[in-house]
Amino acid sequence: MRKKVIAGNWKMYKTQAEAQEFLQGFLKHLTETPDDREVVLCVPYTDLWLLSKNLHGSRIRLGAQNIHWAAEGAYTGEISGPMLAEAGVRYVVVGHSERRQYFGETDDTVNLRLKAAQEFGITPILCVGETKQQRSTGQTEPFIFNQLENDLVDVDQSNLVIAYEPIWAIGTGDTCEPDEANRVIGLIREQIDNPDVPIQYGGSVKPDNIDVIMAQPEIDGVLVGGASLTPDSFGRIVNFG
Ligand code: G3P
Repeated sequence: MRKKVIAGNWKMYKTQAEAQEFLQGFLKHLTETPDDREVVLCVPYTDLWLLSKNLHGSRIRLGAQNIHWAAEGAYTGEISGPMLAEAGVRYVVVGHSERRQYFGETDDTVNLRLKAAQEFGITPILCVGETKQQRSTGQTEPFIFNQLENDLVDVDQSNLVIAYEPIWAIGTGDTCEPDEANRVIGLIREQIDNPDVPIQYGGSVKPDNIDVIMAQPEIDGVLVGGASLTPDSFGRIVNFG
């Protein structure tokens, strides 16, 4: 039985005051959340310690949005595994398309970051997905398979989550049809060694499409951007079904 993982990715949103306000509204939704799912919030670095203290005893797992591959060193602007682990971080997003597009992440650096997360006991959420142009030219499968092959070199697949995030569906309201997301995720599962890796869908997940997305047999969870920013919408998403 694969674990269901429902994760919010706040991206570069929420000061500490805003994060605190979110929690006040969100925690009440968790009283109805079934035990069959993990609830994760991947927040900006500046919010980590505040949430770490406030989540103590709650079922929310703390997540970060990137990790450097070295334990320490002269890497201005980066954050290491020991720093994240000390703050109670259990999950970290790695290889998000925004990191690949705007900050020069390559499959090589993604691979290093995945292994660093695992070394420090943090579960990486590896993001893969194609552009609109790759999809329209029939490159979806080869592009994703190539990402997986390069990103997963020597990565331990017993401590891993994968998120299929078609880039054209991110923040656009243009959700991938659930049966198509299910098909691609099924193909991703065939490409990896461990069939028990939870594979999420991400891209314009909302309260009004979560039930049909989570009803797909291959989809084990979601990675949610915009709709994770408000307590009621993310509350509805975590309580899908
Ligand atoms: O990592 C989540 C993401 O990129 C999807 O964002 O706003 O389309 O839910 P959004």
